[in-house]
Amino acid sequence: MVLLSAVTKSLGRAYALAFAERGASVVVNDLGGDFKGYGKSSSAADKVVSEIRANGGKAVPNYDSVEDGEKLVKSALEAFGRIDIVINNAGILRDRSFVRISDEDWDIIHRIHLRGSFLVTRAAWNHMKNQKFGRIIMTSSAAGIYGNFGQANYSAAKLGLLGLSNTIAIEGRKYNIHCNTIAPTAGSRLTQTVMPQDLIDAFKPEYVAPLVLWLCHETCMENGSLFEVGAGWIGKLRWERSLGAIVRGKDQPMTPEAVRDKWEKVCDFNNASKPRSIQESISVLNDALSQIESQGSISMNSTNSRSVVSSAVDTTSLVGRELTTKVYKYTHLEPILYALGVGMSTKDPDHLKFLFEGSEEFCCLPTFGVIPAQTSMFDGVPSIPGLDMDLAKMLHGEQYLELYKPLPTSGELRSVSTIADLLDKGSGAVLLIDVNTYCGKDLVCYNQFSLFFVGAGGFGGKRTSEKAKVTVNPPKRPPDAILSDVTTSDQAALYRLSGDWNPLHLDPSFAALGGFQKPILHGLCTFGFAARNVLKQFANNDVTRFKAIKVRFAKPVFPGQTLQTEMWKEGNRIHFQTKVKETGDLAIAGGYVDIVSALDKPSALEPTAGLQSDLVFEEIGRRIKEVGHELVRKVNAVFQWDITKDGKTAVQWTIDLKNGSGSVYQGPARSSADTTFTLSDQDFMDVVQKKTNPQKAFFSGKLKVKGNIMLSQKLEMILKDYAKL
Ligand code: NAI
Repeated sequence: MVLLSAVTKSLGRAYALAFAERGASVVVNDLGGDFKGYGKSSSAADKVVSEIRANGGKAVPNYDSVEDGEKLVKSALEAFGRIDIVINNAGILRDRSFVRISDEDWDIIHRIHLRGSFLVTRAAWNHMKNQKFGRIIMTSSAAGIYGNFGQANYSAAKLGLLGLSNTIAIEGRKYNIHCNTIAPTAGSRLTQTVMPQDLIDAFKPEYVAPLVLWLCHETCMENGSLFEVGAGWIGKLRWERSLGAIVRGKDQPMTPEAVRDKWEKVCDFNNASKPRSIQESISVLNDALSQIESQGSISMNSTNSRSVVSSAVDTTSLVGRELTTKVYKYTHLEPILYALGVGMSTKDPDHLKFLFEGSEEFCCLPTFGVIPAQTSMFDGVPSIPGLDMDLAKMLHGEQYLELYKPLPTSGELRSVSTIADLLDKGSGAVLLIDVNTYCGKDLVCYNQFSLFFVGAGGFGGKRTSEKAKVTVNPPKRPPDAILSDVTTSDQAALYRLSGDWNPLHLDPSFAALGGFQKPILHGLCTFGFAARNVLKQFANNDVTRFKAIKVRFAKPVFPGQTLQTEMWKEGNRIHFQTKVKETGDLAIAGGYVDIVSALDKPSALEPTAGLQSDLVFEEIGRRIKEVGHELVRKVNAVFQWDITKDGKTAVQWTIDLKNGSGSVYQGPARSSADTTFTLSDQDFMDVVQKKTNPQKAFFSGKLKVKGNIMLSQKLEMILKDYAKL
């Protein structure tokens, strides 16, 4: 191990002796000039080398200036064959009050401190990169961090070193080259002019050296950090940023007056954030942009756009509050587009029933249920009275979806969203929104959106809710099944057409503002991929068996990456998680799908064999084939039949005289039913065989009708003409 250091009797000497004592081979570099940078001499370096050797250590001197970085590195390689550590420690002072700083005083300070550190480090870089190990220390100063009278040149160069270190740390990370910065305080030749002797004696360089040794150790993973150190104390520094304020509204000019009016908030460090990277730093701009866009013209007088809950809000009164009701109208195009968006393909023959409206079994993927719900929910969030929601700081944390009947393949769905609960997670607030989606009067599905608002916690609310649907960890055994899908580079571009238009998923510059290298895939798209894999693997693609799904979105996925869904079957619950194959990162964690076992399916509760009505429906199906078009024109309705036996639904049949050229099939209506009839197998036969008439059956309670009762009349006509045995 080799160390380069600029040394006299002060910090550099302490480092050199400490490294050598621990077995390092040390290059002791020192130009040997005075503290202002005048003159040169070999004695300073020689003295320290002799000390090390006297103690049994290994060291060689080097008398070049750090401005000859290559030469320094060359001596290390010649003497020891490699270079593992660089301590940039050389320093001089040219203190003057700002206006009296000469060009020369400015330049030489920058040349020795900043440029010298650059040149030595650059000379060592490729050696470190090739050997996949390097530790670099930059020496900054409190004068740079905080400023100090008379040290403008020195402050500027010293903080320049922090900037240099920050970027080197990023570039070196993948080669195991770490770079950290210290701001030491120690009695030395440089400080003896400004410090009283007792402090010089107390602040020993030996109280700084151990930090430098630790930061340079191969097991130390610290990288890109800044430490203040002295007198046996070490502290780490980081940036703090106020939550800030938006000072313009949508399509409104930004004015100095608005800045002035928001000044207190701009400078308010309460609940401040601590950005650690340029991505985290810039993401706030992205947040601000979307907040401005989504909120329209914000009130410039609003006092608090950060916190979810304004102090006057009683959160308990929010729970159960209805947000919006939205109607989602769609044709067969939307379910097909959605199926393509979550990776279905005609390459897989199983998928045809989700992609072709002419397929006998054409149906909607169960997870299509999030689509009508999401518009209702997103439109509702900003208008919660009493809450100051910052959509820009919102993360879609978790999702739950439960289906009560297969989703219609076209029609009109009405979604009603309500606030289920509001939780205080400290670092943020979690808003639970329940969305019930109805087809006519029938509840077809229920969604729970779990939305995390970063930085909005701490309002004293409860942490958990009995209303929250929670994720469940998978069993601790290898998965029972693993299915992989390669997403295409246009996956997000395709998925967004189902209604999530956030540019984060398409526009590279927008994604960059959000801190992403490129646009990311929608979480609900990954969710759709995973769900259809479970449906295929454990429910034979039978949508009537899909009951519920829960997921937590753990990490983003980039279009083009491979999704690997791992599944475990535990009874009727299929646990799953989805990984990005290329990175091993978990994109979806703690997921599960509840399925109805094939035996428990409502349509299979009772064996249908032996039902007389089956024969009638099959016959109706055959007969209407030729005249389907005409019937569709005349009737224009979907009829569902729930045929019971011994008081339980034994089979469901649908006579669809609304879509295409009409069809009759077993099972619930794929699009919504206009009228649903419930009656026993025997009563059905009595009606068909005219032993009783439908009115009588209805008034005697044998026939139950839901939905549009007037359409029954049209049905009578069909039964009369087509239900002939
Ligand atoms: P020092 O003056 O004892 O050590 C600095 C060493 O750098 C000297 O040996 C000097 O000969 C050498 N040097 C100067 N120009 C050189 C060049 N062109 N090439 C090679 N060597 C050169 O001072 P001290 O206090 O030990 O300083 C070490 C570092 O710590 C400096 O960068 C200084 O700015 C920094 N620092 C020290 C503080 C303290 O309280 N001692 C406070 C903040 C920062």
